[in-house]
Amino acid sequence: MAENIAKPFLKWAGGKSQLINDIKSALPKEFTSQKFTYVEPFVGSGAVLFWVLENFPNVEKAIINDINGDLTNTYKVIASNPEKLIAILNNFQNEYFGFENDVDGRKEYYMKQRALFNTRSTDKETQAGLFIFLNRTCFNGLFRVNKSNHFNVPIGSYIKPTICDAENIMAVSKVLQRVEILTGDYRDTLIHAEQPALFYFDPPYKPLSKTSSFNTYAKDEFGDNEQIQLKNFCKILDGLGHYWILSNSDVKGKDMTDEFFDDLYEEFNISRVWAKRSINANPEKRGKLTELLITNYAYEQALSIA
Ligand SMILES: C[S@@+](CC[C@H](N)C(=O)[O-])C[C@H]1O[C@@H](n2cnc3c(N)ncnc32)[C@H](O)[C@@H]1O
Repeated sequence: MAENIAKPFLKWAGGKSQLINDIKSALPKEFTSQKFTYVEPFVGSGAVLFWVLENFPNVEKAIINDINGDLTNTYKVIASNPEKLIAILNNFQNEYFGFENDVDGRKEYYMKQRALFNTRSTDKETQAGLFIFLNRTCFNGLFRVNKSNHFNVPIGSYIKPTICDAENIMAVSKVLQRVEILTGDYRDTLIHAEQPALFYFDPPYKPLSKTSSFNTYAKDEFGDNEQIQLKNFCKILDGLGHYWILSNSDVKGKDMTDEFFDDLYEEFNISRVWAKRSINANPEKRGKLTELLITNYAYEQALSIA
């Protein structure tokens, strides 16, 4: 029987499945044969992480990080106790599907689960199960918390969402055995990176307009000042001889006069790739956009738009 391939176990704003081909052509050629450390400081749902782990057996060590402790707890639980998590999710799925034709009953169950999650007082496996449950059943898979770190996204309208994907959880658990999981600021990853390392940065994107702000994943904002600090961190990595790839929104695609990233990363390699945003409350805005891929090394671009 073919082994299952680990894939993201969450829906996540800014999920990178769509950019994988472009990221693939941007990887340093040396790393197809040489051992290296892979570091993903803003891991989210880990679309690139899982792809790299499946396709690069020469990743000697991988380090992932996110500031969202509920998210990293879920990664840790999948790595350490996937069987218990699967049992919890199975139970949630059966209970939820039990309300199939009862919209109010479903909503009440969802709100109860959400309130329990927000107590953050259950054991870590239940907390991870609640996190996945809410991710699969809430509106658009969004993760949004208020100032008290309470998850406040309403229920979504999926009829039969997959709450328990046992095969994928087992496959993810297996690949996570090679991964160190950190919780905190992206800069804390540096001390864990051994040479040669490849960092892939997928920070909260700079919003294209004031209303399209998807960068509220955690209670801490990621504004222009943070984008500038991230570039300073990238410069430090460059000086230390590490390789990095960074993706971000192409603000210039929306407004030709907006040189924010072109100026900020002018000393590095900037390319523009097509990407499709899917998390947008307004279906008309789920159109095609360009995104930026920035690297601190030169590579042959498979597709160049501008
Ligand atoms: C665009 S998402 C990453 C999406 C990911 N590439 C994927 O495929 O799902 C950005 C992530 O950065 C995290 N984050 C925000 N500020 C951070 C910080 N200062 N340090 C580390 N992670 C941060 C958010 O919690 C979020 O998961």
